[in-house]
Amino acid sequence: MLTSPYSHISNYIAFLDTTRPQSILDVGLGNGKLGFIARDFLDVMMGERFRKSEWRLHLDGIEIFGEYIQDHQKAIYDQIHIGDAFDVIDSLGTYDVVVMGDVLEHFDKEIGWLLLDKCAAHAAKALILFVPLGKGWVQPAIYGNVYETHRSCWTSAEILPMSSQHELFAYTPGEYGAFLIPKGNYVEHRCNMLKQAPFFHKPSDMPNNIRRRFNLTRERIQSVDLLPLARYIINEEYRGYFLDTQFKEHYRLLGYLSSLYKGQTIFDVGTLKGYSALALSYNPANQVVSYDIEDLKQLRHREELKSIDYRIGNVLEDPRLPSAHLILLDTYHDGSFEAHFYNHLKKIGFKGLLVLDDIHLNSAMENFWSRITEPKEDVTDLAHWSGTGLVDFAIAPC
Ligand SMILES: C[S@@+](CC[C@H](N)C(=O)[O-])C[C@H]1O[C@@H](n2cnc3c(N)ncnc32)[C@H](O)[C@@H]1O
Repeated sequence: MLTSPYSHISNYIAFLDTTRPQSILDVGLGNGKLGFIARDFLDVMMGERFRKSEWRLHLDGIEIFGEYIQDHQKAIYDQIHIGDAFDVIDSLGTYDVVVMGDVLEHFDKEIGWLLLDKCAAHAAKALILFVPLGKGWVQPAIYGNVYETHRSCWTSAEILPMSSQHELFAYTPGEYGAFLIPKGNYVEHRCNMLKQAPFFHKPSDMPNNIRRRFNLTRERIQSVDLLPLARYIINEEYRGYFLDTQFKEHYRLLGYLSSLYKGQTIFDVGTLKGYSALALSYNPANQVVSYDIEDLKQLRHREELKSIDYRIGNVLEDPRLPSAHLILLDTYHDGSFEAHFYNHLKKIGFKGLLVLDDIHLNSAMENFWSRITEPKEDVTDLAHWSGTGLVDFAIAPC
């Protein structure tokens, strides 16, 4: 249905009262009931602002079925994005609260968890989740909308450990849940879940030799052609670095490493001008998430870079981090954030490949590099003159 049950309306108000969001993203907004209530409660009731010109709540929505969107939703929401929420959300910013009302069950289970990860990554405070529970809520396509089909079942046991406030309701097809999930709870729970999931095979029969495991040779790296990506670069000096063919820079190695993965999440920590993320997007079949604490990007045709999600904020709070397959760390180079980040990866059970830039830049970085206990390889001869190191978390340290 393009709408949802009514039992959870008072829970919704309570969740909005707890979080007092200044911005909301409503995923799968349908007829727009949840947007209308948020506007009514936060602007009109709490803010005493009934005139549209005075509204302050920033309210956006995503809806896949464009025909649902009519004048009444357009009058309430600031922006409505038509498309698949799983893709559209990558191009959006951060909202205090992301609301998912009766939409999670429209995704396959695994994709549903990945969508939750994305929603948590785009939420500063919390997720609000309304979801039918159990196997009784079967629903085919209706209103001519194939996306109305229910594709997954969720249980209260899966959601409850993350939620700070909730209520369960009994309906004829089964239970129905209303959950407030603070972002911190979500990240912690999801990290624990992923830590227990053996999604990487431990290559016990392989020698601890990172070069051999990843086929790292000059010939292979040389075959990476970054020229098509260089057109996005504004800064001429960096364009030269980006296209280096003398193994003085690391961009071709990054492109090569990205080509080893397909359909995976790659993190670039320390966006700066945006060019390492660009190299990591060499294989567009992956998604690159690039973080910085300020926006220093110098890119043209940014809107064409669909496989890169450039974000400003704290990378440690991104729930996609534990399941990333490849991470580039290129930040302060004083050894202290690097050590903090490395310890965080151990804590959350990261199981991929970590690329460290500038490991020989100064004594603090040399020191940081020397203390790493996982299998590691200095690949400076294939990458950046200031030192590039690879750390393989997939193999337990000997
Ligand atoms: C049951 S309705 C819920 C509407 C509203 N959130 C509410 O609670 O009243 C589910 C909505 O999610 C939309 N939807 C389903 N799959 C979607 C997707 N992949 N991306 C965005 N919206 C989707 C459907 O078209 C429908 O409008």
